[in-house]
Amino acid sequence: MNDNYINSATPSYPSTRMRRNRLADWSRRLIEESRLSVNDLILPIFITEDTKKSSIESMPGVYRIPITQIAEHVNEAKELGIPAIALFPETNSLLKDELGSEALNEENLICRATNLIKNQVNNIGIITDVALDPYTSHGHDGLLRDNEILNDESLEILCKQAVIQAKAGADMIAPSDMMDGRISAIRKELDKSGFKNTQIMSYAAKFASCFYGPFRNAIGSEINLSKKSKKSYQMDYANSDESLREVSLDISEGADMIMIKPGMPYLDIIYRIKSTFKMPTYAYQVSGEYSMIMAAINNKYLEKNKAIIEPLTCFKRAGADGVLSYFALDAAKLIKKG
Ligand code: PBG
Repeated sequence: MNDNYINSATPSYPSTRMRRNRLADWSRRLIEESRLSVNDLILPIFITEDTKKSSIESMPGVYRIPITQIAEHVNEAKELGIPAIALFPETNSLLKDELGSEALNEENLICRATNLIKNQVNNIGIITDVALDPYTSHGHDGLLRDNEILNDESLEILCKQAVIQAKAGADMIAPSDMMDGRISAIRKELDKSGFKNTQIMSYAAKFASCFYGPFRNAIGSEINLSKKSKKSYQMDYANSDESLREVSLDISEGADMIMIKPGMPYLDIIYRIKSTFKMPTYAYQVSGEYSMIMAAINNKYLEKNKAIIEPLTCFKRAGADGVLSYFALDAAKLIKKG
């Protein structure tokens, strides 16, 4: 940013009074620079094989939704005007194996849910996650051999996974695995299979973060992953330049939209990426961020409505075009109320 406008030629106090514009409510509304709209929200949803909805211990207020209730849940989001949902499956542990084979089962939970939503709720975007972690016995996003996550071998499976999700009705594929070359590989495979209009939202700058902890509890991959780390494919949170390289590669490989993840501690990354590439850019306010805010709300340390709207608006200010947030339903209701 160019801060040269602050120089000695700028009239200063008392002729300049910054508070003048802030005095009246109408004036504050007039000078407001960023505003959160319902159109900016994407709701992540956990789905379960179980017949009943179950609460997630580490994410108070978020539930795993059974397939029988999924249409109703998605309909609520749609009625509120939320443009898209992102689906994540809790896979039965008996279906997990070394290769994540269940990811390629066309009748798996994610495909059944996607298909059902596609047929029963229209005019809402369905985003599905491409990565193997809900399906592997080791909890990694790719194939594991001799302690190494295999890049190119993983790509082959991820491509097939993307195609079966598109077949099931996914409108947008969101690869979250951080393998190299996955966007171009998936784009090619989708095109070859007749899905040239299926969009790709790349988890382009995804950091190895402790803030994913509650998510792993929600989809049941924490036991599988245990103490192993994802640092050989997800980025080091100390890095920023590296995220620009990641994003530029994904754009050149054909990503339609890009995502930065986690959200709140990474606003500088969002700002840099949006300013550099001017792409449709999304922030993921991840599970740990949700849980932190909810814990403070439940302890009455923070006021609920304000603690929901402020961080989401700050994502917009930083340059995000939208946010994936477990607060999406609450936020949409608050925005509607005005
Ligand atoms: C898996 C995936 C993760 C999240 C989205 N997709 C977890 C991980 O990489 O371990 C995290 C989302 C959240 O924490 O809300 N590929």
